[in-house]
Amino acid sequence: MAEHIPKEFLELLLQRADLVNLVDARVPLRKKTGHNYFACCPFHQEKTASFSVNHTKQFYYCFGCGAHGNAIDFLMQYDRLHFVEAVDMLAKQIGLAVPHAKMQEKTASLQHLYALLDKVAQFYHTELSKTSHALAYFKQRGLSTEIIKTFHLGFAPRDVLSSLFEKKELEATGMLSQKEGKYFDRFRERIMFPIQDRRGRFIGFGGRVLDNSEPKYLNSPETALFQKGHELYGLYQVLKTNRQLPRLLIVEGYMDMISLFQQGVTYAIATLGTATTSYHIQSLFRYTGEIIFCFDGDNAGRRAAWRALQVIFPIAPDNIQFRFMFLPDGEDPDSFIRKTGKAHFEKCMQEAPTLTQYFFHTLAHDIDLTTADGKARFIKSALDLIQDLPPGILKQTLLVELGQKTRTDVKAWQQSKKTAAPLSVPKNSSASKRSSILRYALTLLIQYPSLAQHLSNPLDEDMSGADLFNQVWKIAAKNTSLSTGAILEHWREQKEEKWLASLAQQELTIPVEGLKSEFLGAIQQIQKQSKAQTIQKLLEKAAIGIISPEERTSLSAMIINKNKFV
Ligand code: UTP
Ligand code: MN
Repeated sequence: MAEHIPKEFLELLLQRADLVNLVDARVPLRKKTGHNYFACCPFHQEKTASFSVNHTKQFYYCFGCGAHGNAIDFLMQYDRLHFVEAVDMLAKQIGLAVPHAKMQEKTASLQHLYALLDKVAQFYHTELSKTSHALAYFKQRGLSTEIIKTFHLGFAPRDVLSSLFEKKELEATGMLSQKEGKYFDRFRERIMFPIQDRRGRFIGFGGRVLDNSEPKYLNSPETALFQKGHELYGLYQVLKTNRQLPRLLIVEGYMDMISLFQQGVTYAIATLGTATTSYHIQSLFRYTGEIIFCFDGDNAGRRAAWRALQVIFPIAPDNIQFRFMFLPDGEDPDSFIRKTGKAHFEKCMQEAPTLTQYFFHTLAHDIDLTTADGKARFIKSALDLIQDLPPGILKQTLLVELGQKTRTDVKAWQQSKKTAAPLSVPKNSSASKRSSILRYALTLLIQYPSLAQHLSNPLDEDMSGADLFNQVWKIAAKNTSLSTGAILEHWREQKEEKWLASLAQQELTIPVEGLKSEFLGAIQQIQKQSKAQTIQKLLEKAAIGIISPEERTSLSAMIINKNKFV
């Protein structure tokens, strides 16, 4: 989606927006230190204020749950808007018109798309009541008439949508597929599970075949309304049914979610044919204090569980209890609750291992902790993962437990590791030293983007991490009034985003007057090291006689000018 709105416009928007006012209107902020304002985080439950908004950076960060971003992110997270909606809202407040790219102009506005999917869902729902074999299928799976209504379940007959609705809008909502230049309904002869966002708007569908053909489930593609990694099936019904949510259960399937709901487990939600994302999990922190993942007891389930743990680790807040529930082999939540009943299901759930128990149990698998070698391997793999945790009680608990389990002083280990959080995995100590200077320069640049004007050429890209630095530098140098938040906008939904955001929130204690020399000093060190590295490489080539005449010339020039830097 992001690419349909020109980056220049987003820069302008973020330059004009005022994050502090925007947040303050929703979450009253109090002034604390310097440019930072604080509040209790609206994205997780807490009693002390760890949510900070920096006026200069135009960037917010929660030290408790890791939620972070610029004004657009805040609206997306707090008002639960999609990217385009958030941009629209911000632009309206400031009085700017959003230059949507052609494709978006042609298709109707988002409101029309929601209205269309609402009509399509009603249409499929009515079709179901007229289609006896589809109704019979739901009945055979044990669903009541009431639950079919609650979830607006439906049936998609043969190709019909184009004759009933606007083709452009159908296309924009992913309801049509194209094959050899011809359009036809994406869902044909399938029972339909409409997907609603947490406010109840219809945003997409899942459709299941009635026989054994493939694919068993088909989902709407990603559209302006629907992003799989953001949505959770059933959340609307769950929130509507429960004023308080002591716990939330995450399952994999549509039928699992619905079946649990019918059996009285009204606090389950399902991911939509994707692995659980950190966005999914973070969006749940504000509703509950306990999140339980339910996995099949097979190998695929165990793999999915470990992946979920890796997603949770960097964002785990102290006040959320996580559990990992494994079903007996061959069962899914639907079959299991039917067989054993609600009480037994909930008992298994409450006895499921916590995050900590699951973590150590899984790591210890196959490792013999009575040998020194096994112990060392165990400590190493545990520490590598614990490293990712935000500072807090969970991290401490894991470290203490690791120490107890292995009867070692793990704290000492932890201290020595802290100093080197490299840009990429360092291969040797000089690489690691270099990358830490590069990281420092990048931290300065991302926090004070106007520093870019003091550097006239990009860094030598031989160094790992230099290309990212150069990309930031290029953007910042082109428009020297960009804030940190506006720079980060360029990395929306990219893998480097989290890393850059973590640099953006680090506290630097350099007085403003000292910034320029601090930055140039770091750059000079980087260039010096890069040059030394090139000289070293050429000397090695010369030593074994594979140096070219050009290289030899540049080598001697470099050695003569060894201490001069541009
Ligand atoms: P399962 O294959 O476990 O199906 O897929 P299920 O939920 O038990 O379905 P029933 O009981 O046979 O009806 C779990 C989830 O994975 C996604 C769907 O979201 C499904 O609910 N999935 C599965 C797909 O997206 N595509 C597929 O082809 C299969
Ligand atoms: Mn099933």
